[in-house]
Amino acid sequence: EHVALWGGRFSSGPSAALAALSKSTQFDWRLADDDIAGSRAHARALGRAGLLTDQELEQMEQALDTLQRMVDDGSFAPREDDEDEATALERGLMDIAGSELGGKLRAGRSRNDQIAALIRMWLRRHARVIARGVLELVQALIEQSERAGQAVMPGRTHMQHAQPVLVAHQLMAHVWPLLRDVDRLRDWDARIDASPYGSGALAGNTLGLDPQAVAYELGFSSVTENSIDGTAARDLVAEFAFIAAMLGVDISRLSEEIIIWNTQEFAFVTLDDAYSTGSSIMPQKKNPDIAELARGKSGRLIGDLAGLLATLKGLPTAYARDLQEDKEAVFDQVDTLEVLLPACTGMVATMRFNYERMEQEAPTGFALATDIAEWLVRLGVPFRNAHELSGACVKLAEERGQELWDLTDEDFITVFDGFVDATTAPQVREVLSTLGSVTARKGKGGTAPERVAEQIESAKQALKLD
Ligand code: ARG
Repeated sequence: EHVALWGGRFSSGPSAALAALSKSTQFDWRLADDDIAGSRAHARALGRAGLLTDQELEQMEQALDTLQRMVDDGSFAPREDDEDEATALERGLMDIAGSELGGKLRAGRSRNDQIAALIRMWLRRHARVIARGVLELVQALIEQSERAGQAVMPGRTHMQHAQPVLVAHQLMAHVWPLLRDVDRLRDWDARIDASPYGSGALAGNTLGLDPQAVAYELGFSSVTENSIDGTAARDLVAEFAFIAAMLGVDISRLSEEIIIWNTQEFAFVTLDDAYSTGSSIMPQKKNPDIAELARGKSGRLIGDLAGLLATLKGLPTAYARDLQEDKEAVFDQVDTLEVLLPACTGMVATMRFNYERMEQEAPTGFALATDIAEWLVRLGVPFRNAHELSGACVKLAEERGQELWDLTDEDFITVFDGFVDATTAPQVREVLSTLGSVTARKGKGGTAPERVAEQIESAKQALKLD
């Protein structure tokens, strides 16, 4: 009655404690569709090698169709005593096709090469879903950037007012890392595009099966070069886990920004009601929970990566059961990102900026001090001195509780004395405007409106290519 795939040399079935530890169907059942696709391709390889007659192959394919239907409608599911998804599906196949025919499918393959192929297939499919989700978030950021036009805000380093920037420039700063994450998924996909099917348990198979044909059927363009590597390496799973963790971090950085902008003190952004939550006790509360969950879940995504790397470290190089632990880490990452991304996209797409307030704040905190220094440099003052002179303006204004533009002509003449003549000194006012400051930053990648417009164009170009 017991249905382990390895009963022959054992005199007893597994103890309950072993079975409980060993069992993986509670998480690997989601590989069932890929497993059946693999079985189909493998059956045809057996047929081509003369190990199944045409009639047997036809019956096998029909049985696999039936099995797939039963999996789809839930009438076939793993049993308590099925060790893993492969064990359950073989039981199902035997039930449908009879043990004589059903028992033939396992020839020339092992759960080791199977599972290595299945995790690749499953991850490649979900990587596409995730990439699409990221591109939608990018789209929302680009649309917000376009809506912001030439609106300005305080640019910060160390969270202190540094230099004014366009709101669009700040938003676009989140687009590029996200596009790189999509690029990373694409690069990764090219690397993982090799099928381990046919590697057997570790050493390959003796039955003359054509692994290249199986690979094509399963959507791979090639076969792994080394059957030990094919079954044992999980670097490609770990690389996916890194990209997922990096995505989490990039989304968390954006979220942290939104959380701060959404505070009463900043009041730069208002979140849409449909993407905010309330408090069970404080009736006035409107909380940025999506952004906070994104920030929190990035910790979880990083943990999945760290756990997987720890599992892989120090494994002997061929299959060991430790490798079963690769799946929950990446399943959790995929589940997390697939619910997180649409929520973040909705939040970003619907948030409304308070441009007026951002503009008001943009030049404060002496954010135009660099513009004074660079104005002096254009007059031939060495930057070292220019920096000092501009600093002296800041000191003076700060002592008086003023901003730079409140300084008088006399003040500028006195501070710049010895470097700039008295008629020129007050002209420094020309650079003491936010628009002047951002417009002057015209170098490639700078915050000048025309550069930001180009930047948005090239991001849209990148979106089109995907
Ligand atoms: N369920 C295992 C995994 O997920 C595959 C089974 C391999 N078992 C074995 N005894 N070789 O990695």
